[in-house]
Amino acid sequence: IKYTAIVLAAGQGKRMGAGHNKQFININDKPLILYTLAVFEQDDWCGEIILVTNKQEQDQIERLLERFPSTTPIKAVNGGAERQDSVHAGLSVVQRKDIPVLIHDGARPFVMEESLHQLAEAAVEKGAALLAVPVTDTIKQKEGRTLTTLDRNKLWAAQTPQAFQYDLITKAHEEAQERGYYGTDDASLVEQSGKEVAVVQGSYDNIKLTTPEDLHKAEAYLNNQKEKETH
Ligand code: CTP
Ligand code: MG
Repeated sequence: IKYTAIVLAAGQGKRMGAGHNKQFININDKPLILYTLAVFEQDDWCGEIILVTNKQEQDQIERLLERFPSTTPIKAVNGGAERQDSVHAGLSVVQRKDIPVLIHDGARPFVMEESLHQLAEAAVEKGAALLAVPVTDTIKQKEGRTLTTLDRNKLWAAQTPQAFQYDLITKAHEEAQERGYYGTDDASLVEQSGKEVAVVQGSYDNIKLTTPEDLHKAEAYLNNQKEKETH
């Protein structure tokens, strides 16, 4: 199977508090976004990468891509105000409408190739699939001043990539736009249209680098990987 990857890097990184887009933060001397791109570059199944970036960071991204050339074609496109707008921009430049599209957060550098393949297969078979892990914390819901405990056995934390047949996800995005619905992920748009989204169980290592604490986790993960390689 071949698939197209849309990698999102057009956010602001406000919660990271670095004063600039977190995609450019160095982890062990390499910008975060390069780790994420490398996963897709190394995967033979990935035919094209669409990298969604901020207009004002266009030059910075181009310089980065020149310094680290990829054998997989990378197309850079400008994103929008919300994540959903950035996905929409990415979808609008997809050439191959006959293969699944994997939509991924640029801020998740540690996704495993095995997960990419399982997602692509699930998208071909079922139309839509997302990567998720069982929740390990007990989650409470607050209503007014009272908390209720949700049944942890039913709770999953959504990750990316999320994989879709092209027509299905573009239609879901258009419907959402018409209704003015904004979701925090792409699967929610498909759920809204009443379709089922298959779940592929991912890894707890596939973290989204969101707050400064996550940078320490990322460094620890990379150092651990390095250790494993040398032993
Ligand atoms: N993203 C995007 N376009 C936006 C908003 C987010 O492409 N308008 C991307 C981010 O670059 C990130 C991914 O979507 O890779 C997940 O979003 P998030 O972790 O929330 O990143 P930011 O929006 O950049 O961070 P914050 O919410 O803390 O400002
Ligand atoms: Mg955000």
